[in-house]
Amino acid sequence: MRISLIVITLSLLCIIGTVIGNGSTKQILDNIFKSYDKRIRPHSENNTAVIIRMSIVLAILIELRENQQVAAYVISHTQRWNDPHLAWNPVDYNNIREIIVPQSMIWLPKLFVYNSMDTKEMLSDDRYDVRINYNGDVKINMPQFVTCICRLSIEQFPFDTQFCAVALASPLLNTSEMDVVASPPPKDSYFAGNAEWELINVTVRDMRFLEEGEYRAEVHYIFHLQRRPIFYLTVIVAPTFLISALSILGIFSPGANDGPRNEKVSLGLGSLLAMTVLLGIVAGAMPKSNSIPLLGYYILIVILLCAVAVGISMAFLGLSRKFIEKGQMPSHIAYRLMMVQPSALSCRRRIGQGRESKDFYNDHSPVFILRVKIPDLSLIHEQLMELVETQRMFRRRLEKEQIKHLVEMEWSRIFSRFDYVFLTVFQVLNLIVLMLFLRFAWSPTPAIREHLV
Ligand SMILES: *[C@@H]1O[C@H](CO)[C@@H](O)[C@H](O)[C@H]1NC(C)=O
Ligand SMILES: *[C@@H]1O[C@H](CO)[C@@H](O)[C@H](O)[C@H]1NC(C)=O
Ligand SMILES: *[C@@H]1O[C@H](CO)[C@@H](O)[C@H](O)[C@H]1NC(C)=O
Ligand SMILES: *[C@@H]1O[C@H](CO)[C@@H](O)[C@H](O)[C@H]1NC(C)=O
Repeated sequence: MRISLIVITLSLLCIIGTVIGNGSTKQILDNIFKSYDKRIRPHSENNTAVIIRMSIVLAILIELRENQQVAAYVISHTQRWNDPHLAWNPVDYNNIREIIVPQSMIWLPKLFVYNSMDTKEMLSDDRYDVRINYNGDVKINMPQFVTCICRLSIEQFPFDTQFCAVALASPLLNTSEMDVVASPPPKDSYFAGNAEWELINVTVRDMRFLEEGEYRAEVHYIFHLQRRPIFYLTVIVAPTFLISALSILGIFSPGANDGPRNEKVSLGLGSLLAMTVLLGIVAGAMPKSNSIPLLGYYILIVILLCAVAVGISMAFLGLSRKFIEKGQMPSHIAYRLMMVQPSALSCRRRIGQGRESKDFYNDHSPVFILRVKIPDLSLIHEQLMELVETQRMFRRRLEKEQIKHLVEMEWSRIFSRFDYVFLTVFQVLNLIVLMLFLRFAWSPTPAIREHLV
C-alpha cells in the first residue's frame, strides 16, 4: 500500500518535472523570441562590433589538382559570438542553461569563401542548429565542401610543402560592425590528408582588407600540406638513377674498341630517350609555370651527364679509328698519362724497326754462278726466284698485319684505361647528383607566405 503510494507520488513528480522541463524550454523560446528580430545585428544598439570567434575543427583534403592549382576539402568550422537579446536567467527557468534551436531563427554572421570555385553546404539551411547559452553566447558548427584556388610553389617538388588557404570575408559589414578573431584549432580536431598529401597542421589567421575606404574582416584557414614523395621516388627517381648508372656502365664498359663501341653509343642514346620520357611524366604533373621543379633539374642533369658520356664515347670511337688506320703507335706521353706500361711486344718492335732483312739472293750468291755455268738450270732458277718473291711478299704482308694488330692492341689498352677512368668519374658524378637531390628531403619547411590568395 505504502510502496504503491510512493511509486505513484514519484511518477507524478516525474510527470510534473517533465512537463515543467518541457515547459521551461518552451517558455524560454516564447519569452526570448517574442521580442527577437533576427534582422537586427547584435550589439547594434550600442554601436559596437559583434565579435565572431572562428576556428576549424575538421579538415579533410579530398584532392589537389596541381595542373589547375585547385584544392578540394571538406571542412567544418565553428563560429561563436554573443547576442545579448538571447540571454536569460537560468534560475527563472528550472536551471536550464542552454537550448538548441534551428539556425533560421536567429541572426547569423554572413561570411563567404572568396577564393572558392565551388562551395557546397553539407546540409540544407533549415537543418543547421545553433546552441545558445543562457548568457547569450551562440555557437554554430558549419560543415562545408569547398573547392579553392591554391597557388602552388613547385620549386621543391617532390619535397615540397604547400600552404593552401580557405579565405572567408565579410561581404558588407565593416570591422566596426562585425569583427573576427581567429582561435587556433582545438587539440582534438581532426585533420586528414589524402594518398599523396599529408595535412600536417592548420593555422587560423584573421586579417583586415580595405574596400571602398572601409576595413572588413577576413579569416584564413591555412592548410599545411606536405607531399609524400615516395611515389615520385619509386616511379621516377629510382628508374632514372638505374637507367643512367646502367647506360654509363654500358658506354664505358672496357672492351674491344671498334665494333662494340658503336653499340655503346646507341645504348647511350636509347637511355637518353627513356629519361626524356620520364621528364615528360614530371612535366605533365606540374602546373605550367616558369620555374622548374627540383625533380626536373635532377632529370635534366642526369640527361646531361649521359649526353656528355655518349659524346666522349663517340670521340673515342673516332680517335681510335683514325690512329689504327694510320698505324700510329701510342706516344710515350699517352702511356705515361694513362699509367700503362707499353707491352713487351711493342718494345721489341721499336728495337727491331731499324734492322734490314738480310738478302741472300744477290749477284754474288752461289746460285748466280751456277746459273751461268749450267743453262738448263736457268729455268729452274727463274721459277725458284718467283717462288722466293712470292714468299717475301707474303712475309711482308704478314709482318704488316702483325704491326697493325699490335697497334690495335696497344690503342685498345690505352682506351680501356680511359674507359675505366671515365666509368668511375661518371658513376661517382651520378651518385653525387642523386645525393644532392635527396638532400632536399631534409630541408626545413618554409614559412607561410604573407599573400596566399
Ligand atoms: C517532453 O514531454 C513529453 C511528453 O510529456 C516527453 O515524452 C518528452 O520526453 C519530454 N521531453 C523532454 C526533453 O523532457
Ligand atoms: C550596451 O552597453 C551597456 C554598457 O556597456 C550595457 O550595459 C548594455 O547591456 C549594452 N546593451 C546591449 C544591447 O548590448
Ligand atoms: C601548428 O601550427 C601552429 C602555429 O600556426 C604551431 O603553434 C603548432 O606547433 C603547429 N603544430 C604542429 C604539429 O606543427
Ligand atoms: C563602418 O561603416 C559605418 C557606416 O557606414 C561608418 O560610420 C564607420 O566609420 C565604418 N567603419 C570603418 C572601420 O570603416
